[in-house]
Amino acid sequence: MKFPKDFLWGAATSSYQVEGFNENTDWAQAAKQGRVPYAGRLADHYHRYEEDFDIAKKLGHNAHRFSIEWARIEPQEGVFDQAEIEHYRQVLRALHARNITPMVTLWHFTLPLWFSESGGFERKDAPVVFARYCAHVVRELGDLCTHYATMNEPNVYASNGYLRGSWPPFKRFALTDMVSITNSGRGYKARAEKSISALFLYRKVMRTLAEAHNCAYDAIKNVAPEKNVSVVKHVIYFHANRNPFNMLRSWVANQLWTHVFMRRTFHKCDSIGLNYYFHKKFGDTEVCEKTDMDWDIYPQGLYDALRMLWKYKKPLYVSEAGLADAQDRYRAAYIQTQVSAVEKALSEGIDVFGHMYWSLIDNYEWALGIDKKFGLVEIDYQTLERRIRPSAWVYADLIKKHRKD
Ligand code: FCB
Repeated sequence: MKFPKDFLWGAATSSYQVEGFNENTDWAQAAKQGRVPYAGRLADHYHRYEEDFDIAKKLGHNAHRFSIEWARIEPQEGVFDQAEIEHYRQVLRALHARNITPMVTLWHFTLPLWFSESGGFERKDAPVVFARYCAHVVRELGDLCTHYATMNEPNVYASNGYLRGSWPPFKRFALTDMVSITNSGRGYKARAEKSISALFLYRKVMRTLAEAHNCAYDAIKNVAPEKNVSVVKHVIYFHANRNPFNMLRSWVANQLWTHVFMRRTFHKCDSIGLNYYFHKKFGDTEVCEKTDMDWDIYPQGLYDALRMLWKYKKPLYVSEAGLADAQDRYRAAYIQTQVSAVEKALSEGIDVFGHMYWSLIDNYEWALGIDKKFGLVEIDYQTLERRIRPSAWVYADLIKKHRKD
């Protein structure tokens, strides 16, 4: 009923999680050291994107969010690879050929080895280095894409890399062992030395990431002022029972997790992408059903997360929301609630222009490897066969019902 005519419906992926063989990266190096699972060929999306986009089209998607692998474009500092640019131009053309609007994320967690080895986002000049890469990509791909996000989930990157120590560069602040945040799920093991200094590094890196986004925004606008540039923010919806102390805790948690970063960057955003996966209710004893990540099944929180970001009065899009569900037991109902949450936000005047389910296909779930199945489409890693899960058709029906273009 309330979805605007040009609303973007689709799903998302990221390069390292689906392409295969992104070996010139900090994650591939960490895998060689045995600190995270080896990724290898994965879904081989690098070569099979046409097949995957055929499926997206069949499922009625009119948009697709994916990321560019920085290490492919800039394999050495300041050296840009034209053949890889050409590859991503083909990817974009393949989307246009199917009437699917592309949304490009310029950096989704993995770093080129030269950058991570020289300090990554601890480098003083990181914002300038990052902005140069972003501007280069937009200059080269610009005619084929309008929507660019500079970075994916800065908080998740920094908290897993600098507080929990479960991701490169494996720095760990001892106290955070007690806090369950983001992609680690059950069975996660930190493989890092604990230290107090990690906390200070975390703060420094978070500041640098905000500056890197702002700097990239300006650099992109310089080469292509008409592009829509966003940041993709992971929001945890912290809420509480009626106990004032718990209400205070949730307020502080929302400030620390979401608002500190957004306050630093929203003025350099034409829109904001929201990644929503979970909520935490302080003082709540209710036990929810869990996804395969051991996260509460609480898709209605997507509405609350949209409201939180609407504070910045920028057009919003859902850049990711979804669940790991190998049996495909909960996914259909989950997606229905996601879509209703967006509909509710729209009916209250919140400007939402797209909804990307995470993920189009099964992928590499970071430190947890390939066992967590987020895909609308199942990947058989032996044969590379793609099998559309039943819930993908439920999403397709919803799209059909609401699409007006
Ligand atoms: C998000 C990440 C994405 C994927 C999902 C499950 O935090 O952006 O790459 O891992 O979680």
